[in-house]
Formats: sequence, structure tokens, C-alpha cells
Amino acid sequence: MRVEVVADEAALAIRAADLVCDAVRAKPATRLGLPTGNTPIPAYAEIARRVAVGEADFSRADIYGIDEFAGVARTTPGTNSMFYRQYVHFGQRALHCPNPSATEPDEHIRAFADALRRAGGLDLCVLGIGVNGHIAFNEPGSPRDSRARVVELTPASREAHATTFGSLDAVPSHGMTLGVADLLEARRIVVLVSAARKATVVRAAIEGAQTAGVPASWLQSHGGVTWLLDAAAAAALSRGT
Ligand code: GLP
Repeated sequence: MRVEVVADEAALAIRAADLVCDAVRAKPATRLGLPTGNTPIPAYAEIARRVAVGEADFSRADIYGIDEFAGVARTTPGTNSMFYRQYVHFGQRALHCPNPSATEPDEHIRAFADALRRAGGLDLCVLGIGVNGHIAFNEPGSPRDSRARVVELTPASREAHATTFGSLDAVPSHGMTLGVADLLEARRIVVLVSAARKATVVRAAIEGAQTAGVPASWLQSHGGVTWLLDAAAAAALSRGT
């Protein structure tokens, strides 16, 4: 596991874009998993800028969503599908997202994960982390061997999305997610974390015990993980980085 610390959010976006663009340059037909959330938005803007000026080419890359809400139309503001449309202005040719309006969401997300596996699996999966240690929608309590499934969202996760859905009541109670085991099958993983409010959970995930209580701690068992942190998110780490 590598831990890279950069000064601030702006530097995080540049370094994240470097890592993703390097992977796509090395393998143009990369299968790339991308998270939603506020953290990666500046990195997506930087990647889009590089694509627009011809510094990067994502025309052969396949982009996969790693989670989605369940029980709402795809065009509902706040869904991950809408997020990708809004912020991922590169590689849109091959954007694979679970369908939030699937009538059998459990079956749907399992089929989504199976199709990804049959396609060869993720070459690179970028992840964010929730303040409670969740990765994708694997909330605390998610075992290491958890697979793609429907999950009940925690109050904290629903509150985090109240603004984009318009109100807390409008946020779906359930989501669909690739499981921890599915995410760990990615060949490489880059975790993007900024902000002081994540410092405690970053320390637990990197230095604490591997436990379902902090799903991001399962990443310790993967040999190809890079944690990319800004200084505020790295502030509670005890070891030198
Ligand atoms: C969301 C997503 C995660 C994301 C996380 C962090 O709920 N399901 O994939 O990494 O929360 O979001 P943020 O970057 O806004 O803190």
C-alpha cells in the first residue's frame, strides 16, 4: 500500500488526473471504475481539460459506475447516473452505470458485476471514502467477501445526498453497490481523500485493524492500493509517509 500526501485539494486533483491518465496511456482500452461524491469532481474536470486539449485520450476506455441509488428514475437529479453525465466529460462513449430504476435491483446489480467480470474486470478503480469508512455503498458492517447487492443506506449517507436530491425525504432508502470483494478484484485501486473531517477515518482505514466496521480498512489486504491524500486528510496518520 502506498500513501501519497499532497498539499491541498487542487494538488490532489492534478495528481489524481496524472494517475488515471497514466493508466489510460499505458492501456488505452482500460476498464476504469469511478466514484461519485464531491472529492473527485476537480480531478474529473482536470481529466476532461486534458482530453479537450489533446493531452489525454479516453476514446477506448470503458468507465464503470461502482454504485447507484435504487428505486428512482435514471434522470432524477441526485442519482449517480446524473452525476456521471454532469461531471465525467470524458469517455462518455462507454459509460456503464447500474440502472437506478431497475425493477429487480438485487438481480440487476449482480448482473452488472457479472458483466464487468466477464469483460475482464476493472484495471483501475478510483474510490472515495465516506466519513464512516464506506467505500462505494459498502456501509459499515460490510464483510470483506461481500458481493454486489442492494444495501440499506445509513442516515449519514442519505443526509450527504439531501441537497442533490432536493430534500432528505427524496433520497432513496436503498442503494446498489459493487461489493467489497468486487472492488478488491480491481488490479489497481486509487483512493482519493481530502478534508480534515476525513482524517480520523483515514487513520482507521490505513493504520487500524481490518474490520467490517470500517469497510475501507479491507483495502489493506490489496497489494495495489494508492491512497492519495491532501495534508488535511493525512493529518491524523501516525507514521511518516
Ligand atoms: C458517496 C459515494 C461514495 C463516495 C463517498 C464520499 O456516498 N457512494 O462512492 O466515495 O460517498 O463522498 P464525498 O467525496 O462527497 O465525501
